[in-house]
Amino acid sequence: MDKILLIDDEADVQYSFRRIFDAPDIELHTVSSGEEGLRQIPILRPDLVITDIRMAGINGLETLKRIRQLDPKLPVILMTAYGTTQMAIEAMKVGAYDYLLKPFDVPRLKALVFAALKAARDMRQTVVVQPILEAEDYDVGVIGRSDAMQTVFKLVGQTAAADATVLITGESGTGKELVARAIYHYSRRADRPFLAINCAAIPENLLESELFGHEKGAFTGATQLRIGKFEQCHGGTLFLDEIGDMTPATQTKILRVLQNGTFERVGGNGVIQVDVRVIAATNKRLEEAVAARQFREDLFYRLNVVRIQLPPLRDRRDDVRLLVDYFLRKLAVPGGRAKSIGRPALQALEAYHWPGNVRELENSIQRAIVVSKGQAILPADLPPEVLAGSPQTPSVGGPTSDVPNAPRPAAASALAGDFPALAQALFRLARHDTRLKVIPAVERELVIEALKETSGNQVRAARILGITRATLRKRVEKFGIKQELDVR
Ligand SMILES: Nc1ncnc2c1ncn2[C@@H]1O[C@H](COP(=O)(O)OP(=O)(O)OP(=O)(O)O)[C@@H](O)[C@H]1O
Ligand SMILES: [Mg+2]
Repeated sequence: MDKILLIDDEADVQYSFRRIFDAPDIELHTVSSGEEGLRQIPILRPDLVITDIRMAGINGLETLKRIRQLDPKLPVILMTAYGTTQMAIEAMKVGAYDYLLKPFDVPRLKALVFAALKAARDMRQTVVVQPILEAEDYDVGVIGRSDAMQTVFKLVGQTAAADATVLITGESGTGKELVARAIYHYSRRADRPFLAINCAAIPENLLESELFGHEKGAFTGATQLRIGKFEQCHGGTLFLDEIGDMTPATQTKILRVLQNGTFERVGGNGVIQVDVRVIAATNKRLEEAVAARQFREDLFYRLNVVRIQLPPLRDRRDDVRLLVDYFLRKLAVPGGRAKSIGRPALQALEAYHWPGNVRELENSIQRAIVVSKGQAILPADLPPEVLAGSPQTPSVGGPTSDVPNAPRPAAASALAGDFPALAQALFRLARHDTRLKVIPAVERELVIEALKETSGNQVRAARILGITRATLRKRVEKFGIKQELDVR
C-alpha cells in the first residue's frame, strides 16, 4: 500500500486526484495548506507528497524546504500552473523529486507518481548483509556464506564507509542491484536520495538528457526544461545500471562529472556542480569493450576504483541451500502450502548450472510454491530445465532422426541408462580437481560437438542437445565457441 499526501487548496484538483488515484493499493490523503501538510506528515508518514506551489499561507517551495528538514528522503512533486523555468530550477535545487505543470496530462502524472513511489521504495528497502535467517524483520537480504560472497560482504562494508565510485560486475541475476543498495544503506549518504537508472533501457539519444537534463528547445521535442538524474540526486547516490551501453558522448560527460562533479545540461552552457556518489553495474566484460574501443579506457579506470565482482551461482553452490531457505520464507504466501523442500528437489537445485543465477533460482522457487501440492517441494514442482540439467535425472528421448549415425531409439535409451554412471565418473573427476569446472566444461564440449555434427546448423544442434535455439546461442556466445569453430 502506497500513501500519497496531496497538498492543494483547490477542491477541483483534490477531486481529480481522488478519481485518478482510486486504486486498491493507493491511499490518498488530501489537505488544503502547507501548514496542514507539515502537521500531517509525521502522523500519516506518506511515501510521496505532491504539493501545489501557489497557496495561501506558506507556498509550495517553502513547504518543500520544511519537508526536507523533517525527512530528506521523502519524495516531493511540485505542481504549478505558472510554469517558469526559474520556478522549476528552484524546486529542483531545494530537492523536489520532479515538478508538473498544470493542467496536467493524466498519463504523465501517473507515470511520474509511480516512478516517485518506486524511488521511495528503493530508498526504504533495508538491507541486511549478514545472513541472519532467523531474523524476520528485514525486507531484502544479500544472502551467502560461500567464501566468494564473504569477500563481497567485506568489500560492501569497506566501500560503504568511503565515498568512492564502485563498479559492480557479474552475470545477469547475480545480485548487482541488491549489492548496490546494500552499499547505499551502509553509507553515510543513507539518509539522502538513492536513484537508479538503467542505461540500457533508455534509447541512446535520450540517455544523455535523462542523466544530465536539457534546456528548453535543446532539440526537437524538448518543449520544457528537464532536470536530469545527476541534478535530482545531488547529495545522494546514483546507481547507473548497465553502464556498458552508452554512446561515446555520454561516456565523456560521465567521466567529467566523476572527475570534478560538473556538467552542462544538453543544449545549455551553464556549468552545474553536483555532489553525487556513483555506483555502476554491468554484466558486460568492460575490459573487452575497452579493448574493442567501445568503452573509454579512462572512464573504465575511473569507475573501477573499487570493483566488486559477483560470482555466478554455479561457482557458489554451497549458497543454493541457504538461498532456497531464504526464498521459501520470503515468498511464502499466507496459508500457502509448500514451506519446505524435499531432499531430491534440493539436490536437483544444487546440481543445476543456473544460467540466470539467483534470479532464476528465485523464480523457480516461486513457481514451485505455486504448483506444489503438499508441504514440501518435490522434483516434479521444479522447472523442466532444472530437472533436465541435473545429472540425477537426465533428459533423454526426443527426435534424433536428423542425426545421421545416431543409434536407433531402443539403443539410445539403453545408452541413456548409462547417464548416472557417466555422471559419477565426471563427478569423481570434478571432485579431484575443482578447477575443471566440470559442468560448463562438458556443456561447452557438447555444444561444439553438436555444431560440428550439423556443420553449424544451430536449429539442428539445439534439437540434438534438447535445448532451445536461444539457449544454444547463449552458450555459443558465453563460451566463445564461434571463433574456435572458425579457426579449426
Ligand atoms: N545474494 C542474494 N541473496 C538474496 N537474494 C538475491 C541475492 N542475489 C540476488 N538476489 C535476488 O535475485 C534477483 C536478481 O538480483 P539483481 O536484480 O540484484 O541482479 P542483477 O545482477 O542486477 O541482474 P541483471 O544483470 O539482470 O540486472 C533479485 O530479486 C534479488 O533480490
Ligand atoms: Mg540489475
